[in-house]
Amino acid sequence: MKVLIVGGGGREHAIAEKLLENPRIETLYAAPGNGGMAAVATCLPIKATDIQAITDFCEKEKMDFVVVAPDDPLCLGLVDLLREKGIPAFGPDKKAAMIEGSKVFAKGLMKKYGIPTAAYEVFDDYDKALAYVQSSPAPMVVKADGLALGKGVIICQTREEAEDAVRSMMIDNRFGMSGSRVVIEEFLTGPEVSVLAFTDGKTVKPMVSSMDHKRALDHDQGLNTGGMGTIAPNPYYTADMARRCMEEIFLPTIAAMNAEGRTFRGCLYFGLMLTPQGPKVIEYNCRFGDPETQVVLPLLESDLLTIMESTVQGTLAQTEVKFSSGAACCVVLASGGYPQHYETGYPIAGLEEAARTAHVFHAGTKLGEPGEILTGGGRVLGVTARADTLPQAVAAAYEAAEKISFTDMHMRRDIGQRALAALQ
Ligand code: AMP
Ligand code: GLY
Repeated sequence: MKVLIVGGGGREHAIAEKLLENPRIETLYAAPGNGGMAAVATCLPIKATDIQAITDFCEKEKMDFVVVAPDDPLCLGLVDLLREKGIPAFGPDKKAAMIEGSKVFAKGLMKKYGIPTAAYEVFDDYDKALAYVQSSPAPMVVKADGLALGKGVIICQTREEAEDAVRSMMIDNRFGMSGSRVVIEEFLTGPEVSVLAFTDGKTVKPMVSSMDHKRALDHDQGLNTGGMGTIAPNPYYTADMARRCMEEIFLPTIAAMNAEGRTFRGCLYFGLMLTPQGPKVIEYNCRFGDPETQVVLPLLESDLLTIMESTVQGTLAQTEVKFSSGAACCVVLASGGYPQHYETGYPIAGLEEAARTAHVFHAGTKLGEPGEILTGGGRVLGVTARADTLPQAVAAAYEAAEKISFTDMHMRRDIGQRALAALQ
Protein backbone atom coordinates (compact mmCIF):
# COMPACT_ATOMS: atom_id res chain seq x y z
CA MET A 1 0.00 0.00 0.00
CA LYS A 2 0.90 3.65 -0.42
CA VAL A 3 1.21 5.74 2.72
CA LEU A 4 1.92 9.46 3.10
CA ILE A 5 3.25 11.06 6.25
CA VAL A 6 2.70 14.79 6.57
CA GLY A 7 5.45 16.75 8.35
CA GLY A 8 9.23 16.86 8.36
CA GLY A 9 10.68 16.76 11.86
CA GLY A 10 12.23 14.20 14.19
CA ARG A 11 8.77 13.05 15.20
CA GLU A 12 7.87 12.30 11.59
CA HIS A 13 11.15 10.43 11.04
CA ALA A 14 10.43 8.27 14.10
CA ILE A 15 6.88 7.60 12.86
CA ALA A 16 8.21 6.73 9.38
CA GLU A 17 10.71 4.20 10.70
CA LYS A 18 8.12 2.54 12.91
CA LEU A 19 5.50 2.39 10.14
CA LEU A 20 7.98 0.74 7.80
CA GLU A 21 8.25 -2.27 10.10
CA ASN A 22 4.95 -3.28 8.48
CA PRO A 23 5.65 -4.99 5.13
CA ARG A 24 2.22 -4.00 3.81
CA ILE A 25 3.71 -0.56 3.07
CA GLU A 26 5.20 -0.60 -0.42
CA THR A 27 5.77 3.11 -0.89
CA LEU A 28 6.13 5.73 1.80
CA TYR A 29 5.87 9.42 0.90
CA ALA A 30 6.63 12.42 3.10
CA ALA A 31 5.43 16.01 2.71
CA PRO A 32 7.87 17.67 3.02
CA GLY A 33 10.09 15.16 4.92
CA ASN A 34 13.76 15.97 5.56
CA GLY A 35 17.30 14.87 4.75
CA GLY A 36 17.06 11.72 6.88
CA MET A 37 13.57 10.72 5.84
CA ALA A 38 14.74 10.85 2.21
CA ALA A 39 16.52 7.52 2.86
CA VAL A 40 13.24 5.75 3.66
CA ALA A 41 10.55 7.82 1.93
CA THR A 42 9.91 9.79 -1.24
CA CYS A 43 10.02 13.41 -0.05
CA LEU A 44 7.62 15.76 -1.82
CA PRO A 45 8.21 19.50 -2.18
CA ILE A 46 4.85 20.27 -0.55
CA LYS A 47 4.55 22.22 2.69
CA ALA A 48 2.71 20.50 5.55
CA THR A 49 0.33 23.46 5.69
CA ASP A 50 -0.59 23.32 1.98
CA ILE A 51 -3.56 21.11 2.71
CA GLN A 52 -5.11 21.51 -0.74
CA ALA A 53 -1.92 20.45 -2.56
CA ILE A 54 -1.55 17.46 -0.21
CA THR A 55 -5.15 16.38 -0.83
CA ASP A 56 -4.74 16.77 -4.60
CA PHE A 57 -1.59 14.65 -4.55
CA CYS A 58 -3.27 11.93 -2.48
CA GLU A 59 -6.25 11.84 -4.82
CA LYS A 60 -4.07 11.67 -7.92
CA GLU A 61 -1.79 8.96 -6.50
CA LYS A 62 -4.66 7.01 -4.90
CA MET A 63 -3.05 7.12 -1.46
CA ASP A 64 -4.21 4.29 0.82
CA PHE A 65 -3.49 5.94 4.16
CA VAL A 66 -2.24 9.31 5.40
CA VAL A 67 -0.65 10.14 8.76
CA VAL A 68 -0.98 13.82 9.65
CA ALA A 69 1.60 14.51 12.35
CA PRO A 70 1.93 18.30 12.94
CA ASP A 71 -0.62 20.52 14.65
CA ASP A 72 -1.10 23.15 11.95
CA PRO A 73 -2.43 20.94 9.11
CA LEU A 74 -4.67 19.21 11.67
CA CYS A 75 -6.04 22.54 12.88
CA LEU A 76 -6.46 23.69 9.26
CA GLY A 77 -8.64 20.65 8.52
CA LEU A 78 -6.46 18.37 6.38
CA VAL A 79 -8.06 15.23 7.81
CA ASP A 80 -11.53 16.59 6.91
CA LEU A 81 -10.44 17.30 3.32
CA LEU A 82 -8.94 13.82 2.92
CA ARG A 83 -12.05 12.14 4.36
CA GLU A 84 -14.25 14.01 1.88
CA LYS A 85 -12.19 12.33 -0.84
CA GLY A 86 -12.54 8.93 0.84
CA ILE A 87 -8.88 8.76 1.89
CA PRO A 88 -8.40 7.36 5.41
CA ALA A 89 -6.24 9.59 7.55
CA PHE A 90 -4.79 9.28 11.05
CA GLY A 91 -5.41 12.34 13.18
CA PRO A 92 -8.32 14.39 14.52
CA ASP A 93 -10.60 16.44 12.28
CA LYS A 94 -10.60 20.22 12.52
CA LYS A 95 -13.32 20.34 15.18
CA ALA A 96 -11.44 17.95 17.46
CA ALA A 97 -8.02 19.52 16.79
CA MET A 98 -9.42 22.63 18.51
CA ILE A 99 -8.34 20.98 21.79
CA GLU A 100 -4.83 22.19 20.89
CA GLY A 101 -5.73 25.01 18.49
CA SER A 102 -7.35 27.13 21.17
CA LYS A 103 -6.20 27.22 24.79
CA VAL A 104 -9.43 29.06 25.65
CA PHE A 105 -11.45 26.17 24.23
CA ALA A 106 -9.33 23.57 26.09
CA LYS A 107 -9.59 25.44 29.40
CA GLY A 108 -13.35 25.87 28.95
CA LEU A 109 -13.74 22.16 28.24
CA MET A 110 -11.86 21.23 31.42
CA LYS A 111 -13.87 23.66 33.52
CA LYS A 112 -17.21 22.45 32.10
CA TYR A 113 -16.43 18.75 32.62
CA GLY A 114 -14.50 18.97 35.89
CA ILE A 115 -11.13 17.88 34.50
CA PRO A 116 -8.34 19.08 36.84
CA THR A 117 -6.28 22.00 35.53
CA ALA A 118 -4.83 25.30 36.76
CA ALA A 119 -7.39 27.97 37.75
CA TYR A 120 -7.55 30.68 35.07
CA GLU A 121 -9.27 33.68 33.49
CA VAL A 122 -9.55 34.64 29.80
CA PHE A 123 -9.18 38.21 28.50
CA ASP A 124 -9.86 39.91 25.16
CA ASP A 125 -9.50 43.31 26.74
CA TYR A 126 -6.06 44.67 27.61
CA ASP A 127 -7.17 46.91 30.49
CA LYS A 128 -9.10 44.11 32.16
CA ALA A 129 -6.14 41.73 31.79
CA LEU A 130 -3.86 44.32 33.36
CA ALA A 131 -6.25 44.92 36.27
CA TYR A 132 -6.45 41.17 36.89
CA VAL A 133 -2.66 40.85 36.93
CA GLN A 134 -2.42 43.70 39.44
CA SER A 135 -4.83 41.96 41.81
CA SER A 136 -3.44 38.40 41.51
CA PRO A 137 -0.64 36.71 43.43
CA ALA A 138 2.64 36.04 41.58
CA PRO A 139 4.00 33.81 40.14
CA MET A 140 1.44 33.48 37.34
CA VAL A 141 1.43 32.16 33.79
CA VAL A 142 0.37 34.18 30.73
CA LYS A 143 -0.55 32.27 27.55
CA ALA A 144 -1.47 33.38 24.03
CA ASP A 145 -4.72 31.72 22.94
CA GLY A 146 -3.75 30.26 19.55
CA LEU A 147 -0.92 28.14 18.19
CA ALA A 148 2.42 29.81 18.81
CA LEU A 149 4.84 26.90 18.25
CA GLY A 150 5.09 26.20 21.96
CA LYS A 151 6.46 29.68 22.57
CA GLY A 152 3.26 31.49 23.56
CA VAL A 153 3.63 30.68 27.26
CA ILE A 154 5.37 33.06 29.66
CA ILE A 155 6.00 32.11 33.30
CA CYS A 156 6.01 35.34 35.28
CA GLN A 157 7.70 35.44 38.67
CA THR A 158 6.43 38.94 39.48
CA ARG A 159 3.40 41.11 38.66
CA GLU A 160 5.67 43.41 36.64
CA GLU A 161 6.75 40.49 34.46
CA ALA A 162 3.12 39.52 33.97
CA GLU A 163 2.24 43.08 32.96
CA ASP A 164 5.05 42.99 30.38
CA ALA A 165 3.88 39.61 29.08
CA VAL A 166 0.29 40.81 28.65
CA ARG A 167 1.47 43.96 26.90
CA SER A 168 3.78 42.05 24.54
CA MET A 169 0.96 39.71 23.54
CA MET A 170 -2.04 42.04 23.42
CA ILE A 171 -0.49 45.36 22.35
CA ASP A 172 2.81 44.54 20.61
CA ASN A 173 1.32 41.39 18.96
CA ARG A 174 4.47 39.42 19.73
CA PHE A 175 2.70 36.17 18.80
CA GLY A 176 0.62 37.73 15.99
CA MET A 177 -3.13 37.23 16.16
CA SER A 178 -2.77 34.24 18.49
CA GLY A 179 -2.05 36.74 21.29
CA SER A 180 -5.09 38.98 20.91
CA ARG A 181 -6.78 36.82 23.49
CA VAL A 182 -4.81 35.66 26.55
CA VAL A 183 -5.27 33.13 29.31
CA ILE A 184 -3.82 34.05 32.70
CA GLU A 185 -3.48 31.10 35.03
CA GLU A 186 -2.37 29.94 38.40
CA PHE A 187 1.25 28.74 38.64
CA LEU A 188 1.42 25.02 39.41
CA THR A 189 4.36 23.04 40.76
CA GLY A 190 5.39 19.40 40.54
CA PRO A 191 7.04 17.01 38.10
CA GLU A 192 5.82 17.16 34.50
CA VAL A 193 4.82 14.06 32.57
CA SER A 194 3.91 13.68 28.91
CA VAL A 195 1.43 10.94 28.11
CA LEU A 196 0.54 10.26 24.47
CA ALA A 197 -2.56 8.15 23.97
CA PHE A 198 -4.16 6.48 20.98
CA THR A 199 -7.91 6.88 20.83
CA ASP A 200 -10.71 6.08 18.40
CA GLY A 201 -13.17 8.20 20.35
CA LYS A 202 -14.41 5.24 22.38
CA THR A 203 -11.34 3.49 23.73
CA VAL A 204 -8.18 5.20 24.95
CA LYS A 205 -4.85 3.34 25.08
CA PRO A 206 -2.04 5.36 26.63
CA MET A 207 1.52 4.88 25.45
CA VAL A 208 4.54 4.61 27.72
CA SER A 209 4.98 7.90 29.68
CA SER A 210 7.84 10.28 28.97
CA MET A 211 9.59 13.43 30.22
CA ASP A 212 10.51 16.37 27.99
CA HIS A 213 13.33 18.86 28.69
CA LYS A 214 12.01 22.12 27.30
CA ARG A 215 14.63 24.70 28.24
CA ALA A 216 17.63 25.33 26.00
CA LEU A 217 20.38 24.96 28.62
CA ASP A 218 21.43 22.51 31.34
CA HIS A 219 19.59 22.55 34.69
CA ASP A 220 16.49 24.00 33.01
CA GLN A 221 18.10 27.35 32.28
CA GLY A 222 17.69 29.48 29.17
CA LEU A 223 14.74 29.93 26.85
CA ASN A 224 11.89 27.51 26.21
CA THR A 225 12.41 25.41 23.09
CA GLY A 226 10.39 22.80 21.23
CA GLY A 227 12.19 20.24 23.45
CA MET A 228 15.90 19.41 23.88
CA GLY A 229 15.57 15.76 24.85
CA THR A 230 13.31 13.15 26.38
CA ILE A 231 13.35 9.97 28.41
CA ALA A 232 10.79 7.18 28.76
CA PRO A 233 9.30 5.85 30.92
CA ASN A 234 8.89 8.79 33.30
CA PRO A 235 9.73 7.51 36.83
CA TYR A 236 7.27 9.93 38.46
CA TYR A 237 4.41 8.30 36.59
CA THR A 238 3.74 5.27 38.79
CA ALA A 239 1.13 2.58 38.08
CA ASP A 240 -1.05 4.21 40.71
CA MET A 241 -0.73 7.62 39.08
CA ALA A 242 -1.53 6.05 35.70
CA ARG A 243 -4.79 4.63 37.09
CA ARG A 244 -5.69 7.99 38.58
CA CYS A 245 -4.98 9.84 35.33
CA MET A 246 -7.09 7.35 33.37
CA GLU A 247 -10.07 7.90 35.68
CA GLU A 248 -9.73 11.61 36.38
CA ILE A 249 -8.32 12.90 33.09
CA PHE A 250 -8.10 10.58 30.06
CA LEU A 251 -11.59 9.02 30.03
CA PRO A 252 -13.32 12.27 31.07
CA THR A 253 -11.54 14.12 28.24
CA ILE A 254 -12.64 11.58 25.60
CA ALA A 255 -16.21 11.72 26.97
CA ALA A 256 -16.17 15.54 27.06
CA MET A 257 -15.08 15.76 23.42
CA ASN A 258 -17.85 13.33 22.42
CA ALA A 259 -20.43 15.33 24.39
CA GLU A 260 -19.31 18.48 22.56
CA GLY A 261 -19.75 16.77 19.17
CA ARG A 262 -15.99 16.85 18.64
CA THR A 263 -15.07 13.16 18.81
CA PHE A 264 -11.28 12.89 18.92
CA ARG A 265 -9.57 10.17 16.88
CA GLY A 266 -5.80 9.95 16.63
CA CYS A 267 -3.08 10.64 19.17
CA LEU A 268 -4.05 12.84 22.09
CA TYR A 269 -1.15 14.29 24.06
CA PHE A 270 -1.69 15.00 27.74
CA GLY A 271 0.86 17.42 29.20
CA LEU A 272 0.43 16.76 32.92
CA MET A 273 1.79 18.23 36.11
CA LEU A 274 1.75 15.99 39.19
CA THR A 275 0.93 18.66 41.77
CA PRO A 276 0.61 18.11 45.52
CA GLN A 277 -3.17 18.24 44.91
CA GLY A 278 -3.01 15.50 42.27
CA PRO A 279 -2.44 15.31 38.51
CA LYS A 280 -3.54 18.35 36.49
CA VAL A 281 -3.57 19.10 32.77
CA ILE A 282 -1.06 21.76 31.69
CA GLU A 283 -1.92 21.40 28.02
CA TYR A 284 -3.46 19.15 25.44
CA ASN A 285 -1.90 18.59 22.03
CA CYS A 286 -3.86 17.03 19.17
CA ARG A 287 -0.84 15.05 17.95
CA PHE A 288 2.30 13.14 18.88
CA GLY A 289 4.81 15.20 20.88
CA ASP A 290 8.21 16.09 19.54
CA PRO A 291 10.69 14.85 20.85
CA GLU A 292 8.50 12.55 23.03
CA THR A 293 7.72 10.39 19.98
CA GLN A 294 11.43 9.70 19.47
CA VAL A 295 11.55 7.77 22.78
CA VAL A 296 8.00 6.39 22.84
CA LEU A 297 7.79 4.74 19.42
CA PRO A 298 11.11 2.85 19.65
CA LEU A 299 9.60 1.17 22.74
CA LEU A 300 6.38 0.18 20.92
CA GLU A 301 6.29 -3.56 20.25
CA SER A 302 2.94 -3.67 18.44
CA ASP A 303 2.40 -2.66 14.83
CA LEU A 304 1.97 1.10 14.43
CA LEU A 305 0.13 1.01 11.10
CA THR A 306 -2.47 -1.43 12.46
CA ILE A 307 -3.00 0.75 15.54
CA MET A 308 -3.37 3.90 13.43
CA GLU A 309 -5.87 2.19 11.12
CA SER A 310 -7.85 1.00 14.13
CA THR A 311 -8.25 4.58 15.41
CA VAL A 312 -9.85 5.49 12.08
CA GLN A 313 -12.03 2.35 11.94
CA GLY A 314 -13.12 2.51 15.58
CA THR A 315 -11.60 -0.86 16.46
CA LEU A 316 -8.90 0.21 18.92
CA ALA A 317 -10.46 -1.90 21.73
CA GLN A 318 -9.54 -5.08 19.84
CA THR A 319 -6.09 -3.86 18.75
CA GLU A 320 -2.92 -4.66 20.67
CA VAL A 321 -0.90 -1.69 21.94
CA LYS A 322 2.07 -3.17 23.76
CA PHE A 323 5.28 -1.52 24.94
CA SER A 324 8.60 -3.05 25.87
CA SER A 325 9.61 -2.96 29.53
CA GLY A 326 12.86 -1.19 28.65
CA ALA A 327 13.77 2.50 28.61
CA ALA A 328 14.82 5.06 26.02
CA CYS A 329 16.62 8.41 25.97
CA CYS A 330 16.69 10.99 23.16
CA VAL A 331 19.30 13.76 23.09
CA VAL A 332 18.57 16.61 20.67
CA LEU A 333 21.51 18.08 18.76
CA ALA A 334 20.64 21.69 17.96
CA SER A 335 22.16 24.54 15.97
CA GLY A 336 24.08 26.98 18.18
CA GLY A 337 21.81 29.92 19.00
CA TYR A 338 18.52 27.98 18.84
CA PRO A 339 15.75 28.90 19.77
CA GLN A 340 16.88 32.35 18.67
CA HIS A 341 19.04 33.18 15.67
CA TYR A 342 21.15 30.36 14.20
CA GLU A 343 22.92 29.52 10.92
CA THR A 344 22.24 26.44 8.80
CA GLY A 345 23.90 24.63 5.89
CA TYR A 346 26.79 23.07 7.85
CA PRO A 347 27.87 19.51 6.93
CA ILE A 348 27.16 16.88 9.59
CA ALA A 349 29.86 14.31 10.41
CA GLY A 350 29.57 10.99 12.24
CA LEU A 351 25.99 10.03 11.34
CA GLU A 352 26.84 6.48 10.31
CA GLU A 353 28.97 5.78 13.38
CA ALA A 354 26.21 7.03 15.67
CA ALA A 355 23.58 4.98 13.82
CA ARG A 356 25.44 1.75 14.65
CA THR A 357 24.26 1.91 18.24
CA ALA A 358 21.33 4.35 18.22
CA HIS A 359 18.42 5.67 16.20
CA VAL A 360 19.46 8.95 14.62
CA PHE A 361 16.23 10.77 13.86
CA HIS A 362 16.55 13.77 11.57
CA ALA A 363 14.67 16.91 12.58
CA GLY A 364 16.16 19.84 10.67
CA THR A 365 18.44 18.41 7.98
CA LYS A 366 18.67 18.71 4.22
CA LEU A 367 20.56 16.92 1.47
CA GLY A 368 23.78 18.57 0.24
CA GLU A 369 26.25 17.18 -2.31
CA PRO A 370 25.76 13.45 -2.95
CA GLY A 371 26.40 11.59 0.31
CA GLU A 372 26.32 14.80 2.33
CA ILE A 373 23.73 15.82 4.93
CA LEU A 374 23.55 19.46 6.01
CA THR A 375 22.01 21.20 9.00
CA GLY A 376 18.71 22.80 8.05
CA GLY A 377 16.93 23.89 11.20
CA GLY A 378 17.10 24.73 14.89
CA ARG A 379 16.70 21.21 16.19
CA VAL A 380 18.88 19.18 13.80
CA LEU A 381 18.94 15.59 15.06
CA GLY A 382 17.50 13.46 17.85
CA VAL A 383 19.78 10.63 18.96
CA THR A 384 17.77 7.90 20.69
CA ALA A 385 19.13 4.86 22.49
CA ARG A 386 17.09 2.01 23.94
CA ALA A 387 18.24 -0.22 26.77
CA ASP A 388 16.92 -2.41 29.54
CA THR A 389 17.26 0.37 32.12
CA LEU A 390 17.14 4.16 32.07
CA PRO A 391 20.77 4.68 33.24
CA GLN A 392 21.94 2.46 30.37
CA ALA A 393 19.75 4.26 27.85
CA VAL A 394 21.02 7.70 28.93
CA ALA A 395 24.65 6.58 28.74
CA ALA A 396 24.14 4.97 25.33
CA ALA A 397 22.36 8.01 23.88
CA TYR A 398 25.23 10.31 24.91
CA GLU A 399 27.83 7.85 23.67
CA ALA A 400 26.19 7.87 20.23
CA ALA A 401 25.57 11.64 20.26
CA GLU A 402 29.28 12.26 20.93
CA LYS A 403 30.10 10.66 17.57
CA ILE A 404 28.23 13.39 15.68
CA SER A 405 29.57 16.87 15.02
CA PHE A 406 28.79 20.03 13.06
CA THR A 407 29.75 23.68 13.39
CA ASP A 408 28.28 25.30 16.55
CA MET A 409 26.49 22.10 17.59
CA HIS A 410 24.68 22.40 20.92
CA MET A 411 23.25 19.70 23.16
CA ARG A 412 22.13 19.62 26.76
CA ARG A 413 24.37 17.45 28.92
CA ASP A 414 21.77 16.64 31.55
CA ILE A 415 18.97 14.90 29.67
CA GLY A 416 17.57 12.23 32.01
CA GLN A 417 19.41 13.44 35.12
CA ARG A 418 16.24 14.49 36.94
CA ALA A 419 14.60 11.16 36.13
CA LEU A 420 17.69 9.25 37.30
CA ALA A 421 17.65 11.21 40.57
CA ALA A 422 13.97 10.33 41.03
CA LEU A 423 14.81 6.64 40.61
CA GLN A 424 17.30 6.77 43.49
P1 AMP B 1 3.02 24.71 27.12
O1 AMP B 1 3.53 25.41 25.89
O2 AMP B 1 1.59 24.95 27.43
O3 AMP B 1 3.45 23.28 27.16
O4 AMP B 1 3.81 25.37 28.33
C1 AMP B 1 5.22 25.34 28.33
C2 AMP B 1 5.70 25.03 29.71
O5 AMP B 1 5.30 26.05 30.61
C3 AMP B 1 5.11 23.77 30.33
O6 AMP B 1 5.79 22.62 29.92
C4 AMP B 1 5.29 24.04 31.80
O7 AMP B 1 6.61 23.76 32.20
C5 AMP B 1 5.08 25.52 31.90
N1 AMP B 1 3.72 25.83 32.36
C6 AMP B 1 2.62 26.03 31.60
N2 AMP B 1 1.55 26.30 32.37
C7 AMP B 1 1.97 26.29 33.65
C8 AMP B 1 1.34 26.49 34.93
N3 AMP B 1 0.05 26.80 35.03
N4 AMP B 1 2.11 26.39 36.02
C9 AMP B 1 3.43 26.12 35.94
N5 AMP B 1 4.07 25.92 34.77
C10 AMP B 1 3.37 26.00 33.64
N1 GLY C 1 7.53 18.39 23.25
C1 GLY C 1 6.34 19.14 23.43
C2 GLY C 1 5.43 19.17 22.28
O1 GLY C 1 5.53 18.41 21.36
O2 GLY C 1 4.55 20.02 22.28
